[in-house]
Amino acid sequence: MSKRIKIFDTTLRDGEQTPGVNLNIQEKLEIAKQLEKLGVDVMEAGFAIASPGDFEAIKAVAAEIKNVTVASLCRAVEKDIDRAWEAVKNAVSPRIHTFIATSDIHMKYKLKMSEDEVLERAAAMVKYAKKYCSDIEFSAEDAGRSRPEFLYRIFEAVIAAGATCINIPDTVGYTTPFEFGNLVKGIKENVKGIEKVDISVHCHNDLGMAVANTLAAVENGATQIECTINGLGERAGNASLEEVVMALTTRKNYYNITHNIDTTQIYRTSKLVSSLTGVLVQPNKAVVGANAFAHESGIHQHGILNEKSTYEIMTPESIGLSQNKMVLGKLSGRHAFEDRLKEMGYTLDQEAINKAFEKFKELADKKKVVLDDDIQALVEERVSQIPEMYQLVSFQINSGNKVISTAVIELNRENSVITEAATGDGPVDAAFNAIERAIGMELKLVDYNLRAVTGGKDALGEVTVKVAKNGGKPFIGRGISTDIIEASVKAYLNAINRMLSEIS
Ligand code: KIV
Ligand code: ZN
Repeated sequence: MSKRIKIFDTTLRDGEQTPGVNLNIQEKLEIAKQLEKLGVDVMEAGFAIASPGDFEAIKAVAAEIKNVTVASLCRAVEKDIDRAWEAVKNAVSPRIHTFIATSDIHMKYKLKMSEDEVLERAAAMVKYAKKYCSDIEFSAEDAGRSRPEFLYRIFEAVIAAGATCINIPDTVGYTTPFEFGNLVKGIKENVKGIEKVDISVHCHNDLGMAVANTLAAVENGATQIECTINGLGERAGNASLEEVVMALTTRKNYYNITHNIDTTQIYRTSKLVSSLTGVLVQPNKAVVGANAFAHESGIHQHGILNEKSTYEIMTPESIGLSQNKMVLGKLSGRHAFEDRLKEMGYTLDQEAINKAFEKFKELADKKKVVLDDDIQALVEERVSQIPEMYQLVSFQINSGNKVISTAVIELNRENSVITEAATGDGPVDAAFNAIERAIGMELKLVDYNLRAVTGGKDALGEVTVKVAKNGGKPFIGRGISTDIIEASVKAYLNAINRMLSEIS
């Protein structure tokens, strides 16, 4: 009989530790709801003591999510555990996830503690957490470089203290699949009480082996996989959920493992996370990259036309890749639009539907064919909206190859209109300079990305920017329009409004 593996998603915690990523509560909630639809077993919603924002986001996720265990990370320290419990206690199924480092390097240089001290602390803190919550996960940070015999002792001690899940992180992505599989096997064979708890693995991708290490662990007895959407995470990221899940699904005969993931939600989840974090998915990324199902060579195309399985080991439909159906035209009514939203899996409230419909009508006026991907971009634009201190009224650009680009911008702030003009090195630079004058702030554009949502000359352009003030943390902004200057202006204002709403 096949065994069922648990999928623990840490996009909202380790994934949010991706450099430059900073999600607000609404965005975290939106991702959490999508993870619930995807069917993960556990979601780690944040690191409660890290910041008040993290704490509030975990609390909000815990209150909203009903069918998934919600976890908060915490160090093996009483005040961290108290805060983690405060954040998750209202969840239907709460979990406290506590950790301490176990490798010689970390114990000597970071913790300045001996093995015995670390073991004693770990067991005491699991016992402490247990007074709050029955579901306790314990992680031995840097387990990949820890002495296996010490891991056996510490895992045995935390299980005796009440841990229900022990996690084996390859924190720095150092191990190879063979080594990591053996480490898991050794733990399974040498730890008393291990059969009563979940054996979890958490692999980082520094050498590009996170997914391979995770799968090797599964073959050696892991019962829970920790991963993130699009492989986000510290440095080179974590094992990517979509790759691990599609490997288990596509090679079911080999692994003989089942899971609870609805794979048809994978593509939508990947898109949502990419658009809200501002981290683009590389085109050749396995499973969700733009080229994952594209066949370039004539020989391949010929094979695919005759029989798909010649060059496709999984179908685009299995990950929910839309057929990019024509949705509707400018004469389509509200009813048909609402039906299409439902078919695409969206459950929006009335106000959100109204707003999306308004935008759809505007778009249908400019674009002949409105596709599923356009609709998804419109719905996601709503999610990245935040209180708007500055709203765009109008802009005018004069640009060309023989003139200096100039921009005139009109912004609305608390019912008064501010008009400013500026020149720049091209139309986008001129528009951004005019915005900065209008708001009286000098900003640094840290990153700028433009992508076409669909093909065709009239495609929607989606611009993602990262903007920082005085070398501070960057804020992400996103804007879409069939006019790429308008998309850029909207993205810049979105980032500025986000910055201002966090400061105020
Ligand atoms: O990589 C790691 O070790 C972690 C733990 C805290 C689980 O993220
Ligand atoms: Zn990690």
